[in-house]
Amino acid sequence: MSFDRSIKIAPSILSADFANFGAEIQAIEAQGCDWVHVDVMDGHFVPNLTFGPPAVKAFRPHVKTVMDVHLMISPVDAYIDAYADAGADIISAHLEASPHIHRTLQAIRGAGAKAGLALNPGTGIDDIDYLLDMVDLVCVMTVNPGFGGQKFIHSQIEKVRQLRAKIGDRPIHIEIDGGITTETAPLMAAAGADVLVAGSAVFTGGSVANPAPYGENIRAIRAAAQAATN
Ligand code: DX5
Ligand code: ZN
Repeated sequence: MSFDRSIKIAPSILSADFANFGAEIQAIEAQGCDWVHVDVMDGHFVPNLTFGPPAVKAFRPHVKTVMDVHLMISPVDAYIDAYADAGADIISAHLEASPHIHRTLQAIRGAGAKAGLALNPGTGIDDIDYLLDMVDLVCVMTVNPGFGGQKFIHSQIEKVRQLRAKIGDRPIHIEIDGGITTETAPLMAAAGADVLVAGSAVFTGGSVANPAPYGENIRAIRAAAQAATN
């Protein structure tokens, strides 16, 4: 995985057909996505339940791009090795979910994955100064985590702008997660985001039997974001 700041579209399979994950992953990759975003929820840190390590392991052989695993779980440290062993390329943990986030990020890199730091909409960026040398990605949540299909929170645009300035030349991706559409993607790309997670906006209108709309949606989001960075 080489580093660059080009716009990357990462569909969240939270919006996929839950009876068909392998085929859904193959379909979004064939339709041009850059990464595959896997939302792991525990019914405790967030009010929803999704994928344990065996599920993520079952997705792995279908992912030819990058498997980006977003852990919305607390405690988190005890599960890092299991998600790394399941084949996650990137593991993101929430600042709010770990009393020792420094240790958590060390553990993620120690397990051989790229380390992501996720921030809820209510969390500022003052507390990340001493973590920047330990992360490969910062994920700014643009909805409160737990569900797909929520409304984008506009206050996060300024947060991303400040985060982009703080990151400077460091090779750290800025990922945006929640409520991304052709309307909101350009706002975030202009503010400095390079990885755009989108669930409902990618999967809407398509299916495994009719995957062409996935490609149209991915291209439309990418074009809107790229137009804002030119
Ligand atoms: C929210 C998840 C997101 C979400 C994105 O907790 O982390 O990845 O599913 O879905 P949309 O794009 O529908 O907001
Ligand atoms: Zn996510």
